[in-house]
Amino acid sequence: MHITIAPASTQTGQATIRFLLADPTNPSVRGVYRNLAKVPGEFKSHPRFEAVQGDIEDVASLNFKGSDAVLNIQPAIYEDKDNIARARAVSGNIKAAIQAAASVKRLVLLSSEGAQYDHGVGEILASHAAEIVLQGAAPEVVFVRCAYFMENWAAAIETIKKASFFFSTLTPLDFKLPHIATQDIGQACAAELLSTGAPLKSNPYIFDLEGPQPYSALDVKRAFEEAVGKELEVRPVEKEGLLEFWSTVFPPEVAKRITELNLSFLPGGVLYENSKPTGETRYGKTELVVVLKQLLGGQ
Ligand SMILES: NC(=O)c1ccc[n+]([C@@H]2O[C@H](COP(=O)([O-])OP(=O)(O)OC[C@H]3O[C@@H](n4cnc5c(N)ncnc54)[C@H](OP(=O)(O)O)[C@@H]3O)[C@@H](O)[C@H]2O)c1
Repeated sequence: MHITIAPASTQTGQATIRFLLADPTNPSVRGVYRNLAKVPGEFKSHPRFEAVQGDIEDVASLNFKGSDAVLNIQPAIYEDKDNIARARAVSGNIKAAIQAAASVKRLVLLSSEGAQYDHGVGEILASHAAEIVLQGAAPEVVFVRCAYFMENWAAAIETIKKASFFFSTLTPLDFKLPHIATQDIGQACAAELLSTGAPLKSNPYIFDLEGPQPYSALDVKRAFEEAVGKELEVRPVEKEGLLEFWSTVFPPEVAKRITELNLSFLPGGVLYENSKPTGETRYGKTELVVVLKQLLGGQ
């Protein structure tokens, strides 16, 4: 089995490659990097891993020839550009490269919970656009709709280290939201890629992917306290303050779509009400405290 990961430098792409290279069926893996200097040492020396130069925004740079399966991840752009047009263009590139290769039987797209909505979900509209272009892009198509990444809390580490507090845009503080660890995403994506050729329950086959339990900001506080061994304060950013808060982090249009995304999963939001559930949910095993300890260890 030959599998391409595009792009491979993403945190979820890296996690998937680790599971693929450790798999007893010994698949070969090609990683697409726009900057080959970013290939991690752990993969570089692996006999079944090949790194190639490529940019998902440049169709001429994508070569999936010889691959049985492709994992596509579409990293967000944090610039004031039309992210929906970009998602459509990137998805068109992936589709064209699959068709040019002829060998690809299965496409797995890393998507997002809420991608079934065409309004009110902010940044997730890019995943919605990608799903529309990519259905039918290969004989077998799988959309893995992920919950909120546990790794997003890495943004809290700076103030925790400096001043023992962190901001939470997840409110009320006891409101629990599904989270997922990127290592569990990697495991789920690797399993889907390795199942190429096996019958799908539906085509596209779509499932939500969540962690073992949902977490609130207070749970995050407790997990960080366990990880750092000191008491912490969590400062809520209430709904009415979200746009101002995100505007300190991102340019204006990005801040707007991140605010809409943020509101969509809070009580009263489109995803909180979720009138269009995906239907199937799978659960990873990794708990939040494990991820927070890894994040703190890596800084
Ligand atoms: N965060 C969440 O809570 C959440 C939840 C659900 C779904 N998702 C989905 O997860 C996806 C992001 O996954 P991720 O966190 O694994 O990504 P990520 O780690 O944020 O991706 C960043 C990497 O992508 C590479 N990259 C960016 N644009 C590229 C291009 N045009 N060509 C080649 N490489 C490119 C960058 O390469 P360089 O190193 O060269 O800069 C960088 O290393 C998004 O589709 C998002 O919708 C996220």
